[in-house]
Amino acid sequence: MKLAKLLSNFNLFLHKISFDKHKPIRESVTNIVKEKSNEFYDYGEGFFYQSIPSINLKGLRNTEKRINKLKLSEYLNGKSFLDIGTNIGAIPISIENNFTNGVGIDHNPTLIKVANKVKDYFDIKNLRFIADDFIKYEFKSNFDVVLSLANHSTFDKGIEDSNKYFIKINNILNKNGILIVESHNPLYEKRENFIKIIDQLKKDYFILDNNYYDFGNFYDKDRLFYVMQKKN
Ligand SMILES: C[S@@+](CC[C@H](N)C(=O)[O-])C[C@H]1O[C@@H](n2cnc3c(N)ncnc32)[C@H](O)[C@@H]1O
Repeated sequence: MKLAKLLSNFNLFLHKISFDKHKPIRESVTNIVKEKSNEFYDYGEGFFYQSIPSINLKGLRNTEKRINKLKLSEYLNGKSFLDIGTNIGAIPISIENNFTNGVGIDHNPTLIKVANKVKDYFDIKNLRFIADDFIKYEFKSNFDVVLSLANHSTFDKGIEDSNKYFIKINNILNKNGILIVESHNPLYEKRENFIKIIDQLKKDYFILDNNYYDFGNFYDKDRLFYVMQKKN
């Protein structure tokens, strides 16, 4: 996508001209991604898909605004959570550290290398990143909260069967657990199709909140999200 590439080139340019105390860690994670050590699809279009505000790393998506809009400080307070398709772990790394323990999983090991690098930089002890396929991975314990942010089907075909995906989530979510689901960009996923998925989930979940992103570039803007609670 041309516009995404332009945005990423601009972010790369900003990265080059930014000088602050986090420059070395930004350089380090940029080098990891530059190695291109695997054939996984590049969601960042040459730079990063997610921003990490604490190290001033730019990305196509605005992590800080997403966290605020989704009220993650509230929903994760005192809870364990899983972030599916965590990418470079920007959401778990950037949220208020009021959770008990968090896990981020992504099948692209390069992205997990970046996530671990930033996690270690801030010495975050209650966070773990796993490089594996969410569908196949056997979790040793269940979670109070599951984040499914633009991940119920993926462009790289890592997740193709949304039914299978939500069954897996249901199996690893604690009783009365919270599931937060974000849609894809409306250009790729029609609103009515996303709402159909939500309607199907209503047999297992109550809806606590829903809204849309009223900020950002076309990557964020107009995405829908639902906060749901497992019935039993
Ligand atoms: C559209 S991006 C969304 C990233 C992140 N959830 C967000 O919203 O910022 C999809 C992510 O899912 C990952 N992914 C795709 N299939 C996967 C699978 N089977 N298991 C784990 N991660 C997967 C990709 O590598 C990518 O980082």
